[in-house]
This record gives sequence, structure tokens and C-alpha cells, in this order.
Amino acid sequence: MQDLTIAFIGGGNMAEALIAGLRRAGHAGEKIIVSDPQQQRRKFLAEQYLVRTVEDNSVAAAAADLLVLAMKPQQMKDALAGLSEHLKADASVISIAAGVSSAAMQEWLGSGANIVRVMPNTPALVGAGMSVLFSDAGELHKARAEYLLKACGEAVRVEKEAQMHAVTALSGSGPAYFFLLAEVMQATGEKLGLPAELAAKLAAQTALGAGKMLVESDRTSEQLRHQVTSPGGTTQAALDMMYEMGLPAAVRQGVVAASKRSEELAG
Ligand SMILES: NC(=O)c1ccc[n+]([C@@H]2O[C@H](COP(=O)([O-])OP(=O)(O)OC[C@H]3O[C@@H](n4cnc5c(N)ncnc54)[C@H](OP(=O)(O)O)[C@@H]3O)[C@@H](O)[C@H]2O)c1
Repeated sequence: MQDLTIAFIGGGNMAEALIAGLRRAGHAGEKIIVSDPQQQRRKFLAEQYLVRTVEDNSVAAAAADLLVLAMKPQQMKDALAGLSEHLKADASVISIAAGVSSAAMQEWLGSGANIVRVMPNTPALVGAGMSVLFSDAGELHKARAEYLLKACGEAVRVEKEAQMHAVTALSGSGPAYFFLLAEVMQATGEKLGLPAELAAKLAAQTALGAGKMLVESDRTSEQLRHQVTSPGGTTQAALDMMYEMGLPAAVRQGVVAASKRSEELAG
């Protein structure tokens, strides 16, 4: 896989996260090519990651074994027009654009493109992403996508494209749910008398620790919660109040709302 030429159309935040991961994993800079309209952005990426940069998308597409579509969803249709004639026949096309279906990309690129649709999330920026991929294309293309995505976190597959709405609601939008919790914990810590900086650190490090336990422990989230909840103790007092105030129902309905919104946006 390290021999693959990986081209990015769009050199924004998510592309940078993937490029940083690839470089950390030892993928050579000269095997990475980025196309972006902004000269400043190209200069930054070339200097920071020693990658090749170009202004013309078709130059990047022509070089690609693996083409990563990393522009905003609304920029996709225009960017893909005329691109397929430059693609190698066995190139893999990986889209990280939220909400753009495989069928839409197939239509814009022309049939025969080997498309893998991915829902990444922002923790990819710190190497702890959760990416979910769907594809009707062959194993080779899914394996290439996994190689790319595992450079900045975890990657798993779903078998049905319709599951991407639930995926978006869980891991795509999910970081914001944890940020909200941290925000409220921090603000309340301040109200209870802690300096802002200390409250922020306590909330952030607690989130990191709880996340690591969730990922690394053999126990379920429910078991881990029971483990830290002594009967009649402080945690019990907090959780009783959170249940009484409807926190689980609010989270449930929030996740369902995100999934419905994803369906609406897909049209
Ligand atoms: N960031 C997230 O949290 C997140 C999470 C999951 C999925 N995603 C998906 O990741 C994709 C990229 O998001 P992002 O946050 O990285 O966006 P971004 O920072 O705006 O990056 C997009 C880049 O593509 C460039 N671009 C626009 N049109 C182009 C074209 N025709 N050809 C080549 N490059 C073009 C943009 O240049 P201009 O600035 O000049 O337009 C910009 O540099 C989106 O589709 C988004 O849905 C993002």
C-alpha cells in the first residue's frame, strides 16, 4: 500500500488530518498529491508535509491510484465534472463528503468508478478518528480505503449504505455531544468555585480517561458506569438527578434527530 499514489481533491482540514496520518505512518510525501484552489493552502501543505501540490484537479486525478474527494459536499458536483476521463481504470475513489450518496457520485463521475463512501469524524485531526465506510466496489478498493483511514484512527465497514444515517448520528456528529457534556461540566465546576482553567482541564482529562476505558476495557459502558457508582455516593447522586432530569431521553432523541436530518439532507 505504501507504493500507492494518493491524490486529494481539496486540501482542507480533513485532507490535512489524513495526510498527517499517512506521513506519520511512513507514506512518502512524493506519493501524495494535493489539489486545492488556494495558493496559500498548497504552499502550507507542501512545506509542512513535503507533498506535491497542484492547482489542476485533473493532474491530481490522473496520478491517483487512490483519489480522495475531500471538498465540501456542495462543491462536489462541479469538481467531479469531467474528472473521470483522467482517472486510471483501477483507481479507487474515496469520498469523505457527508451526505453525498454513492449513486450521486456515480452519476457525476460516470459509471464504472470504484467508489468508497466514508463518514469520518473530527478526532481524525488528532489521530483518534472513527471512520465508517460503505462500498459496492471490490475488496481491493475497500482495503485501500482502510489503509488511508487507519492512518488517523479506526475504520470499520457497514454493509448497507442506508446505515450511513445512523453512523452520521453516532460517530459523525458524536464528538459534539461529548463536547457539550464537557462544556456543561466545566461551567458547573466554575460555578462551584474552581478556576476556569482547572475546570476545563478536569473535564477534558476526564473525557479522555473515560474514552480510553471505553475503548480498552473488556467491560460494557453500562458495567463501567456501575463500577464507579457506589450506592449512596456522589456519583449515584449525580446520576439519579440526571435520570430525573431526562438526560438519557434527551440523548436518545438527539441521536434520532441527527439521523433524520441526515436522511432529509440526502433528499
Ligand atoms: N470537518 C469535519 O468535521 C468533517 C467530518 C466528517 C466529514 N467531513 C467531510 O470532509 C469534507 C471536507 O471537510 P473540511 O472540513 O476539510 O472542509 P474544508 O476545510 O473547507 O476543505 C475543503 C477544501 O477543498 C477546497 N475546494 C473547494 N472546491 C474545490 C474544487 N473544486 N477542487 C479542489 N478543491 C476544492 C476548498 O477550497 P476553498 O476554501 O477555496 O473552497 C478547501 O480548501 C467535507 O465534505 C465534509 O463533509 C468533515
